[in-house]
Amino acid sequence: FSVYTFDILESTSKYLALNKSSYLEENRIPVIACELQTKGRGTSNRQWYSNLGGSLTFSLMWRFTRRIEHIQTLSLVLGICLVRVLRKITQTEIYLKWPNDIIFAKKKFAGILTECRSVDNNILVSIIGIGINFKLPPNPAIMSDYGVTDLFEITGQYLDRNQILAYLLVELREILIAYEQFGFIYFRKEWENYHYFQGQPVTLKSVDALTTSGVVSGISVDGSLVLKTDSGNKAFGMGEISIKT
Ligand code: BTN
Repeated sequence: FSVYTFDILESTSKYLALNKSSYLEENRIPVIACELQTKGRGTSNRQWYSNLGGSLTFSLMWRFTRRIEHIQTLSLVLGICLVRVLRKITQTEIYLKWPNDIIFAKKKFAGILTECRSVDNNILVSIIGIGINFKLPPNPAIMSDYGVTDLFEITGQYLDRNQILAYLLVELREILIAYEQFGFIYFRKEWENYHYFQGQPVTLKSVDALTTSGVVSGISVDGSLVLKTDSGNKAFGMGEISIKT
């Protein structure tokens, strides 16, 4: 890895995308981290809020060496990486919420954004952006359908961002190599084990605002969420799990 740190950037992923060609020349995996993001990007065109010194925000560029089937499963596999590392460090019950939210006690505290582009010879380059809340200010301006939290609230401690970044990079590299070689199928069961809603009755809100109720039976090979509904199993490629309160 080559880790570059900045005080302030609009977005580490945007910065990496804009400067992709210069980093592509390197043999090492480029990692861009910054203290403060002013226009952090989230999934579904949302913003990703982070505060000065209170979060870990970084992006890295990964060059795949072979064709990947169902590339939408990449961000699910990265979720496994975060759960593995954060469970080990915090010794707490951290879970995933489909497709790639990292949650504790139903509250989100970390997210993943993958942006893929193909370059020459059909080789895929992915910009992987990860944001983790360490210590949010009171009443952060976060739009969320459900609660948000941070590692300070979860553990009662100020954890070391550098140490977590280092652990994550080592695990990310290992996971990405295995993913390239064996595909999502290799991780599928582990993902289901980490899914907070596995076997639970949920309501899924689709992009077109339609809702479907069912019991989460698992994840399919392409990363879709499979719900057991009154009219049989249904797979969803997108949507938001609404938590029944
Ligand atoms: C989500 O919406 O859950 C994904 C959030 C991803 C945020 C990270 S922070 C580092 C990188 N740079 C960005 O602009 N976004 C990602």
